[in-house]
Amino acid sequence: MKKKLVLFLSLMLAFSMALAGCSDSSSSGGSSEGGSKGSKGDKLEIFSWWTGAGEEDGLKALLKLFDEKNPDIPVQNAAVAGGAGTNAKAVLASRMQGNDPPATFQVHGGAELNSGWVAADKMEPLNDLYEKEGWKDKFPQSLIDMVSKDGNIYSVPVNIHRGNVLWYNKKVFADNGITPPKTFDEFFAAADKLKKAGVTPLSLGDKEPWTATMLFENILVGTMGVEDYGKLWTGEIPLDDAKVKESAEIFKKMLGYVNEDHSSRNWQDASQMVGKGEAAMNVMGDWAKGYFVNDLKLKTNEDFGYITTPGTEGKFVVITDTFGLPKGVKKPEDVKKFLSVLGSVEGQDAFNPLKGSIPARTDADQSKYDEYGKQTIADFGKAELAASLAHGSAAPEGFLTKVNQAVNIFVTQKDVNQFIDSLKAASGDLKK
Ligand code: GAL
Repeated sequence: MKKKLVLFLSLMLAFSMALAGCSDSSSSGGSSEGGSKGSKGDKLEIFSWWTGAGEEDGLKALLKLFDEKNPDIPVQNAAVAGGAGTNAKAVLASRMQGNDPPATFQVHGGAELNSGWVAADKMEPLNDLYEKEGWKDKFPQSLIDMVSKDGNIYSVPVNIHRGNVLWYNKKVFADNGITPPKTFDEFFAAADKLKKAGVTPLSLGDKEPWTATMLFENILVGTMGVEDYGKLWTGEIPLDDAKVKESAEIFKKMLGYVNEDHSSRNWQDASQMVGKGEAAMNVMGDWAKGYFVNDLKLKTNEDFGYITTPGTEGKFVVITDTFGLPKGVKKPEDVKKFLSVLGSVEGQDAFNPLKGSIPARTDADQSKYDEYGKQTIADFGKAELAASLAHGSAAPEGFLTKVNQAVNIFVTQKDVNQFIDSLKAASGDLKK
């Protein structure tokens, strides 16, 4: 109840901020931020949810590079705090509806872009920019497909995040004689051992419910495989399928091993528990690596280790952050200049090593990436790719909102039948 109230209040706050036309520009940014409000000023508004720990370093580097290359185009960093766009998406929706789009905004490839803003006729095609920059064979076709609809390309991917990573504290594993679990059985064996030793096996921070939805989507991929997981969102496999129930049972069992205060923590808090050795494992996208390294000053493969989540070896849950050109912006040519920098090798290599993601381009400079990055680049090239539900790529926003609500209730009530019923009831929104 309390959690719902907090969520409701934060949404209200986001909406009132939007109405007042004062999206948060105070957080960080390039050398040229600040000043004007909304798109009414002269500055090029770059809208995202990358503020604070683990999120903003990559963006700052990109804005700095843009400023170096285009000193005559002032930029405003219009980021709105909240993981996975919890608040930013609401602010953006209200601005788009009011025909006050930012110059460009963070949007996930897949349904969030195509069934959302493109279907609503709010985006300009970028085919000419792709031609001019020679990008068509520089981005993998799988990504170009995620940002295309009816033969037109609508945004430029800045990165690829992996969503199916289990992060663990190396010392806690070593002290307890545990090796990284590859299967659900191995995971539960490790979790039991850790629990007996008095260590929190799995950290969770679901103050914003998307983190729990992510955990569930990983279980779905691990249980069903990539192809059948994909069929859930096209309606070819119903949401009350036996494998979904099995996944819900596993999810319920996993929730028996998480920190008690999970509902008052965010994703950074949960990652921090692993970083500090207060918990052994955490399931999170690889923005957590950016946070471990940049903010907690931990060393990859020394302080923390990583493995694909149980059952997902050879599979890659894809989250791609992209930026496009909304219809009706004042200076479309300046926006394209920003997109050109974001889509360049230099831009991608300034952003991604700090963000924890890998470059979306296939010709980036791999020497700029650490061991984790190099391995992830190699994995992406050969893995089976699954679009993330929790991050808006697999299914329309309306459906995702209902799934997040269902997950949020499940985390406290742990009623599998009720959960499956809610998922099934939401499936009407899959087509919208
Ligand atoms: C995702 C986004 C990532 C990261 C994460 C946590 O939706 O794609 O770049 O920011 O949310 O906020």
